[in-house]
Amino acid sequence: MKNIKNEEEALLQREYIAKMKAVTEKKEKELGRKMRYHIETLGCQMNAKDSEKLAGILRDIGYEECEDESLADFVLYNTCTVRENANLKVYGRLGHLNSVKKRTNPNMKIAICGCMMQEPDEVATVRTKYSFINIVFGTHNIFKLAELMYRLETEDRMIVDVWEGTEEIVEDLPAERKYKFKSGVNIMYGCNNFCSYCIVPYVRGRERSRDPEDILSEIRELAKEGVKEVMLLGQNVNSYGKTLPEPMSFAALLREVEKIDGIERIRFMTSHPKDLSDELIETMKDSEKICRHFHLPLQSGSDRILTLMNRHYDRAKYLEIVRKLREAVPDISLTTDIIVGFPGETEEDFTDTLDLVREVRFDSAFTFIYSKRTGTPAAKMDDQVPEDVVKDRFDRLLSEVQRIGQEMSGRDEGKVLPVLVEDVNRQDKHMLTGRLSNNTVVHFRGTEDLIGQIVDVRLSEAHGFYYIGELV
Ligand code: SAH
Ligand code: SF4
Ligand code: F3S
Repeated sequence: MKNIKNEEEALLQREYIAKMKAVTEKKEKELGRKMRYHIETLGCQMNAKDSEKLAGILRDIGYEECEDESLADFVLYNTCTVRENANLKVYGRLGHLNSVKKRTNPNMKIAICGCMMQEPDEVATVRTKYSFINIVFGTHNIFKLAELMYRLETEDRMIVDVWEGTEEIVEDLPAERKYKFKSGVNIMYGCNNFCSYCIVPYVRGRERSRDPEDILSEIRELAKEGVKEVMLLGQNVNSYGKTLPEPMSFAALLREVEKIDGIERIRFMTSHPKDLSDELIETMKDSEKICRHFHLPLQSGSDRILTLMNRHYDRAKYLEIVRKLREAVPDISLTTDIIVGFPGETEEDFTDTLDLVREVRFDSAFTFIYSKRTGTPAAKMDDQVPEDVVKDRFDRLLSEVQRIGQEMSGRDEGKVLPVLVEDVNRQDKHMLTGRLSNNTVVHFRGTEDLIGQIVDVRLSEAHGFYYIGELV
C-alpha cells in the first residue's frame, strides 16, 4: 500500500530539483564550468546510503562530483555521532574547511547533515561557533536537499531544518550509486532497541520497515541496471517486518530477494542476536545467493554487562547461535563488534569477553572503547572505568582478536572460489581487487573490463587478511 503523502512529497521535491537546476545553469554560464559538489561521509552503511541519495539530488540539479573538497562549490558533511571522537573530528575539519573557503574559495557553500545534527546541543554549537555553515539538516529529511538549497538562494542566511522524527518514508527520488555492480538497499529505518550505551535510536528515530514490494521492485530495478550484489540495510534486520500491516519475517524477505534474476549475492547488516531466528539460519543454509558471512555484534561476553547494556541475550544464547550457524553453513565467516570499558566493567567481566572471543574464534572483530553519549542510560551509570584501565583492556583484546584472525585467515588457501571483482588495485594497476562470498579480499592479475563480474580465482597465497590469487 502506497502512502499518497509520500508521492506528493516526492513530486514537490522534483519541482525544487527543477528550480535549482535553473539556478545552477545560470551559475554555470557565469563560471564557464560545471558546478561541483563534494560529500564527506562519516559513519555506517546507513549514512553511506543516505549520501548516495544526496548525491543523486545534486547530480539531478546539475552538479558534478569533485574529489578535492577545497575545489567544490558545495561541500556536505554527512556526520556520525555514535562515538564522541567522531564529533570532535568533524569540528576540526570544519574549522579547516572555513579557512580554505576564506583563502581560496569564498563562494563555497557548506552544509552539514546526518546523525550529529539530530542532537540539539550540536546544532546549538554549529549556530554559535560555526556560523559560516550555510545549511543544517538531519537524518529524517535528506530528501529535501534541493528545497533547502533553493531556500539558501532566496533567503541568504543559515538554513536550519532538523526534524525530531518522522513516520514518512519518501520513495522514488534519485540516487547516485557509488558502484555499478553492488548497492545497499534500505529495508528499514531507525531502531527500537535502546541498548543502554547507544545513541542511534535517538538520532535515527523509531523502527520503520519498508513495504516489501517497494524493496523488491527497487532490487529488480537495480538488477536490470547490472547490480549483482545487494546489501540489505537496517540497524536490526532480524526484526524486519514485525510492524508492517501484513507482518513478514526477514527470512521471508530474503527468500523473495533470492528469486530476483541477476542478483547473485545477498548481504545484510546488522543482525542483533536477540531476534535471530532458526528460520533465518535455515534460509541461509538453503540459499545459493546469501553470502557466507555473518556480522553478529557481541558487545560483551559478560552476562552481567550484557544485562546492563540491555542486549536481551546472554553468552550461552550467543554461543548457541554461533554453533547453529556453523553447523548449517560450515564455511561461514563470523565477524563482530565489541565494546570495552562499559560502566562498571570489572576485570572479571572483561575476562569473560576474552574467553568468549577465544571460544568463538571470530574471523575479525571491530573493537571499540566505550564512549559516553549524553542522553543514553549508560551515561548516568556510576563506575565509569578509568581511562588507563580501559586502554589496557582494549590493547589486550585487540591483540587476541588479531592473533585469532590471523589463524582463521588463509583457511581457503589453494581453493578455487568465485570473486566479485570490485576495483583496480591501488598499488599495482595490473592487479584487480575483489571479494569472496565470505567478504575476504583477493588480489589477482587481470584487466579492468572484469570489474563488476564474478570470476573464478585460485587462492594461491594467503597473506594474513587477504589472498593473492590467479584467474582460472
Ligand atoms: N545496530 C547495530 C550497531 C550500530 S552501531 C547493532 O546493534 O549491532 C555500530 C557499533 O558501534 C555497535 O555494534 C557498537 O559496538 C558500537 N557502539 C555503539 N555505541 C557505542 C558507544 N557509545 N561507545 C562505543 N561503541 C559504541
Ligand atoms: Fe544501537 Fe542497539 Fe540499536 Fe544497534 S540495536 S543501533 S547498538 S540501540
Ligand atoms: Fe553513526 Fe548514525 Fe550510523 S550515529 S553509526 S552514522 S546510524
